[in-house]
Amino acid sequence: MIGRLNHVAIAVPDLEAASAQYRTALGADVGAPQDEPDHGVTVVFITLPNTKIELLYPLGEGSPIQGFLDKNPSGGIHHVCYEVEDIDAASARLVAEGARVLGAPKIGAHGKPVIFLHPKDFNGCLIELEQV
Ligand code: CO
Repeated sequence: MIGRLNHVAIAVPDLEAASAQYRTALGADVGAPQDEPDHGVTVVFITLPNTKIELLYPLGEGSPIQGFLDKNPSGGIHHVCYEVEDIDAASARLVAEGARVLGAPKIGAHGKPVIFLHPKDFNGCLIELEQV
């Protein structure tokens, strides 16, 4: 069911420093910061030849990233995102398989429908599925 790895999201304590590091030390194609108020994050997209990296930084009160950074002050991998063709079919299948789907599909950072799957059901890894 899942297809390509769409992105790996990394929560960072200093967005400017992390962007500069990816640009300068790693020589990556690093975009400009984008505020995503609906998701409580500021995102920097990094384009790699075969996938993307998203640097996540908290935006506003109650950002889901803030709690993660409180537990992981130096940052860390927050989630991985796999592509699916049909988000509703994927969601129904996962529910039938006993996985916890976190909420109904909503529009993600790329303007496409996404769902998240509970990390406790997937080896401690928060999974995002994005319809492409
Ligand atoms: Co994501």
